[in-house]
Amino acid sequence: MTCKIDYQPAADLLDGRIILVTGAGDGIGRAAALAFAGHGATVILLGRTIAKLEKVYDEIEAAGGPQPAIFPLNFEGATLKDYHDMAETLDKEFGRLDGILHNAGILGRITPFEQYNPELWEQVMQVNINGPIWMTQALLPLLKSSPDASVVFTSSSVGRRGRAYWGAYAVSKFATEGFVEVLADEVEHLGTLRVNSLNPGATRTAMRKTAYPGEDERTLRGPEEIMPTYLWLMGPESRGHNGEKFDAQPPKRG
Ligand SMILES: NC(=O)c1ccc[n+]([C@@H]2O[C@H](COP(=O)([O-])OP(=O)(O)OC[C@H]3O[C@@H](n4cnc5c(N)ncnc54)[C@H](OP(=O)(O)O)[C@@H]3O)[C@@H](O)[C@H]2O)c1
Repeated sequence: MTCKIDYQPAADLLDGRIILVTGAGDGIGRAAALAFAGHGATVILLGRTIAKLEKVYDEIEAAGGPQPAIFPLNFEGATLKDYHDMAETLDKEFGRLDGILHNAGILGRITPFEQYNPELWEQVMQVNINGPIWMTQALLPLLKSSPDASVVFTSSSVGRRGRAYWGAYAVSKFATEGFVEVLADEVEHLGTLRVNSLNPGATRTAMRKTAYPGEDERTLRGPEEIMPTYLWLMGPESRGHNGEKFDAQPPKRG
């Protein structure tokens, strides 16, 4: 597994690129949207809370980044038609897609499997894996229209080694890792599209606080500190890396 925390991106690394970020209103997704725009990308901000997306939009504009776009979508209720309508809209607006950061996710509950609520399990699988998969299927033609496209799926340490009580969250991240391998193998021959998984590692966000309420937050990196690997994966220097597992932080912090 590779970590690029020391990577120093050029200011114009993502100039001209069109990148979709899911869960862009908060936490790691927000930091990624700001970082991508800060390096020249036109960012499509997708999420379920419009007010948060609007705030990120304003921050990008205030920083002088390329004008972003907002795409409200809730993975819980989204249908195949929504994903195809989305593809049509993005096709009309941009004609291609150079990157997707699949970042939106929910924790569900950390609880013994014996007590796991089946409805919550379904909800976690819907938001963390099923929705993103079908969205990716609808967006594949747009990704194929790019000369150099990068799809990054967000994983977790519990998606690489199972841990007691992490239930649907861990299983959804294992599924994510599996899907990355399948899709990466399918698109390998294209030479223009790469698909990789990225584990952010322990990061100071609302989700982390819910998972570890007693933790001293000062011991954690903030989302903006883990951006080098995100930028490297979205930029041209990661070309040729396909179907690989990345870490945004060195081992033992995640
Ligand atoms: N933080 C960590 O330590 C850590 C470690 C390993 C992996 N991860 C992974 O990193 C990713 C980002 O996590 P985070 O820590 O930044 O979490 P976060 O602060 O809770 O942010 C999650 C984002 O996903 C969005 N989202 C949730 N449900 C959604 C839905 N149904 N439809 C659309 N968007 C939805 C949220 O939107 P709202 O703001 O509207 O709720 C929010 O923007 C997740 O995939 C998580 O599993 C995080």
